[in-house]
Amino acid sequence: MDKIGFLGVGKMGEAILGSLIRTAGMPPSQFIACDTNAGRLALIRRRYKVKVVDDADALPEACGTIFLAIKPQDLDQVLESLAPALTRKHLLVSIVAGKSLARLQELSGGRPRLVRVMPNLNVAVGAGMCVFTPGATARAADRRLVAKLLSSCGEALELDEQHFDAVTALSGSGPAFFAYVMQAMARGAEALGLPAEAARLLANQTMLGTAKTLREGGQEPDAFIQTVCSPKGTTAAGMAVLEKSTVARALERTLKAAARRSRELNRG
Ligand SMILES: NC(=O)c1ccc[n+]([C@@H]2O[C@H](COP(=O)([O-])OP(=O)(O)OC[C@H]3O[C@@H](n4cnc5c(N)ncnc54)[C@H](OP(=O)(O)O)[C@@H]3O)[C@@H](O)[C@H]2O)c1
Repeated sequence: MDKIGFLGVGKMGEAILGSLIRTAGMPPSQFIACDTNAGRLALIRRRYKVKVVDDADALPEACGTIFLAIKPQDLDQVLESLAPALTRKHLLVSIVAGKSLARLQELSGGRPRLVRVMPNLNVAVGAGMCVFTPGATARAADRRLVAKLLSSCGEALELDEQHFDAVTALSGSGPAFFAYVMQAMARGAEALGLPAEAARLLANQTMLGTAKTLREGGQEPDAFIQTVCSPKGTTAAGMAVLEKSTVARALERTLKAAARRSRELNRG
């Protein structure tokens, strides 16, 4: 397989690169990492023993596949300057939020094959959720390669690009939202007198276990809630408050705001 380049090894670039090496067991010699931040680059070289470069121009010659993992606001300029060196032999895998395949094609000069991905930070522990959509000229082998790489960092799902703003809101930004809910639950238990460390462990493990139970049992959340709620029991008492609250509506508005921002980034 061709070498795989990472243009940007910040939080998300490192999470994917690290997972491919540590969880999937791919050899460090397979990768080249590029970042303009000298500190990041030194840390990535030390941590993963990969080759590093500080100039993106070095990537097209050495890499058949390049992950674009820089911030949306940096992408246009970087990709436009890289475009003359990009050919049909290159596969660009963009994880940049809000940048559509059409925009990526325009910026990259129209020659490289493209796959757009929305990952999340949970790839760092092999439990990521990555959604991908191939561009018009992507080959079956490109889809297989991207699916294989992403599956080794967690779950990978191919979806139409029209869903990307919603995907960005739910699974891309979602880890922050779920962490917020988890923290609120832990703080609620602290207010009942539970030590902070124990509260965090209980909230964390209960969230993890609930997701696992629902996933493996294939039960609808509503049916599962009924299973946990015995009549006049403690769960029923809590659920009565939750159902009357505005929590569901606030979460809906949270996702709408994230999706709106994703649309704005595509325009910007
Ligand atoms: N973080 C998430 O949870 C998440 C989830 C889904 C998608 N994403 C997407 O992933 C991408 C990266 O996000 P991130 O959170 O990893 O950002 P980040 O931590 O800021 O990492 C981006 C890295 O790229 C470097 N960089 C900037 N310009 C560059 C250039 N011209 N060439 C090479 N490197 C350059 C930055 O250096 P400086 O620090 O010096 O600027 C930084 O080290 C974004 O497009 C984001 O939309 C992120």
